[in-house]
Amino acid sequence: MRVVAGGWARWMASRHHTTCLARHPTARNMGVQCPASTLCTVPSIAMPPSQSCSLMTHPAYRVCSSKWLPQWWWRVSRKPARCLHTDERNLDQVTPSMGEQSSSSSSSSMVGEVVKLWTQSLDAAEVPEALLSAQHIVAHILGVPRSELQRDSTVVITLTEQQLEEVERLMTCRLARMPLQYILGEWDFHCLTLKMVPPVFIPRPETEQLVELALARLRGLEAPRVLEIGCGSGAISLALLHALPQAECVAVDQSKHAVELTEANASRLGLSERLTVVAGKVTIGARPPLPHSSYDLVVSNPPYVLRKDLMEVQPEIMMYEDLRALDGGKDGLEVVKAVLQHAHLLLPPGQTLLLEVDPCHPYLLPAWLEKQDLSLKLVQVHQDFNKKERFMEFIKTS
Ligand SMILES: C[S@@+](CC[C@H](N)C(=O)[O-])C[C@H]1O[C@@H](n2cnc3c(N)ncnc32)[C@H](O)[C@@H]1O
Repeated sequence: MRVVAGGWARWMASRHHTTCLARHPTARNMGVQCPASTLCTVPSIAMPPSQSCSLMTHPAYRVCSSKWLPQWWWRVSRKPARCLHTDERNLDQVTPSMGEQSSSSSSSSMVGEVVKLWTQSLDAAEVPEALLSAQHIVAHILGVPRSELQRDSTVVITLTEQQLEEVERLMTCRLARMPLQYILGEWDFHCLTLKMVPPVFIPRPETEQLVELALARLRGLEAPRVLEIGCGSGAISLALLHALPQAECVAVDQSKHAVELTEANASRLGLSERLTVVAGKVTIGARPPLPHSSYDLVVSNPPYVLRKDLMEVQPEIMMYEDLRALDGGKDGLEVVKAVLQHAHLLLPPGQTLLLEVDPCHPYLLPAWLEKQDLSLKLVQVHQDFNKKERFMEFIKTS
């Protein structure tokens, strides 16, 4: 059996020795601490085969080399990390049912055993959602849906030596706390499977509810025109275009990586014709040129995390995702306020703005809105599936 706990631990240690970012002279000059010294589960950095492994392009390096980030960003807290809206409905609710017997050969290993051993390794390293991660990775290597691994079957699936090596490589990425979505290179959102590439924001399950709210407002309109501010991977716009064959979307993002990924996802899904992707930053008082001056709906899941909360996000987020996709400034409202101002200008009376926000925002925003000269009225606050006040719905009044 190739997958031996001591084996990967030694391999990880050797990888860490050669790849630890803090050993790089540039990183050292910047005062970057070795992540392993503060976060024992990040001993090495490994990238999936499809992605570049160069130090300069590694998200962790990019994060610590971003000039606007203060040094404390790198000092990840040891206390339990905040999970950014975990879908609490189904994580780790599954149990492996195949290959419970522990037999193996030098050339192949039973899938149940591989999943079990890697789950133990991930668990031991305190990697969240260990079982789920192990199952997803093994299923990905086998090219089967994860449900295949959970099926109560008498058929024994084995992994070849080559597949085991591939499993080991991807599990090492997970041990380095790379999000599963980046390791697999794709993830399901709403009715779509989207390509995922670091550091573009990984769509969260809550946002599927934002799509549902948008669909409810758009159904009945003949050829609705939608503006999305901060499109990331394109999840919201593409889900809307997929569900509404007559709709047209304009998707804006300040990140070049997000713009490229949205375009790639649109092309993969055959939705490019009805989508215009605009690169540019939306701020109070400025926005990139848009193809239309009026929209039937403005929707946005903007960066809304309060700066004080950013320090507590999971290592997966801290090290791999673009923190500018999350950072909403001191009160989390920096981009939210800009979106409100532009929605005021771009929506005709009676049309809707939908925003995903932090649960404190439904309490903070109305007071700010009252002082502005914006014809937007808060009509409803919707809870997410964790019963958090997550979505704000505004209507353009005049
Ligand atoms: C929380 S992510 C949401 C991504 C995607 N809509 C989703 O739900 O998965 C926010 C996105 O807004 C983009 N963004 C942040 N500030 C922005 C700004 N001022 N103007 C335009 N886009 C911005 C980020 O690059 C990021 O892709």
